[in-house]
Amino acid sequence: MQVDLRSGWQIRDVEIPTRLVLAPMAGVSVQAFRRQGRRYGAGLVCSEMVSCAGLHHGNERTLGYLRISPDERPLAVQIFGSEPAVMAEAARMVEDAGADLVDVNFGCPVKKVTKTGAGATLLEDPSRARAVVAAVADAVSVPVTVKMRRGLENGSRACLELGPRLVDAGAESLTLHPRSARQMYTGEADHSLTAELVARVDVPVVASGDVTSQARAQAILATTGAAAVMVGRAAQGNPWALREILAGNVEPPSREEVVAELVLFIRETARELGERRATGFLKKFYGWYLGRGRFPRPFKQELVQLETLDEVEARLLAAAPGAAEVLERLEADLPEAEEDVVLDLPISIYGGG
Ligand SMILES: Cc1cc2nc3c(=O)[nH]c(=O)nc-3n(C[C@H](O)[C@H](O)[C@H](O)COP(=O)(O)O)c2cc1C
Repeated sequence: MQVDLRSGWQIRDVEIPTRLVLAPMAGVSVQAFRRQGRRYGAGLVCSEMVSCAGLHHGNERTLGYLRISPDERPLAVQIFGSEPAVMAEAARMVEDAGADLVDVNFGCPVKKVTKTGAGATLLEDPSRARAVVAAVADAVSVPVTVKMRRGLENGSRACLELGPRLVDAGAESLTLHPRSARQMYTGEADHSLTAELVARVDVPVVASGDVTSQARAQAILATTGAAAVMVGRAAQGNPWALREILAGNVEPPSREEVVAELVLFIRETARELGERRATGFLKKFYGWYLGRGRFPRPFKQELVQLETLDEVEARLLAAAPGAAEVLERLEADLPEAEEDVVLDLPISIYGGG
């Protein structure tokens, strides 16, 4: 049966207006990315993972502190760690900051994280995984969700055993990215596992992995029974993918639209991370926005070499003169700026899931 991607659904009492969830991506899912995702139709957005270890060690290399704002809601904030009591403390901070959901990361395949017993390692440590979820669910009144990979090793089915146990422990939704941690991002996401997980739990399941078009999203929803799809890499520098997934065949963006969205993204990110951090952070976005045949390759190279964001912005606006007007309209349509809440939780530079 075809699911209407523009219909609402719920995680307990949290209303989510569409079946499209923007993936948490470390080094990508800054506030500007989440806000943009909401504008283009994501019903739920998620912060990249923030480290609970930072709470007590304070020596982790971080990108800064997580900043959230009411206009991003419904918003999930993702935490990772392996100590139940510390995770509970972080979850309370997340709830106090105004997040609608606390998401727990059981998917990160990056060694720096797995060697601490966090991320995907917890897939093979069911009693600790259960204890983490129980402690977090006990600590907050907002719903707790978990994002998993299929397991550590290729072919693993660990997520199917663990999923129902996490629901017993208090998880109110599960997201599955059905690749193994070893696979990283190679091969394909095996959504037959998503279908099996849906059959085993009575909470909504979100399907993550290789959702790149409306046809793909519809097929995954229809064959798995998942409540929603999550979109990650396809939305990098490409919010128009979200629009296509929701609305079907839509015109590709004009050069003016691309430049206007990128300049807005640069401005918001500089405000969030500060000019110095943002300058390096933003470089990978230039290729993502300007690629896909939108601009010739040397243009990106040129931008990456410029020293200040003002220069980047001026060069972009010169390349698409009509963009200034589009940008003005975009800025005028932005929701009233509300006070950001800054959480004392560091954004880890080690990401993945
Ligand atoms: C650069 C990058 C960073 C990621 N960081 C996280 C993360 O912090 N937490 C998480 O649960 N998943 C993370 N993921 C995994 C994505 O959320 C998603 O499950 C995965 O990319 C598969 O979806 P896709 O094919 O739509 O990209 C990351 C993925 C990428 C590409």
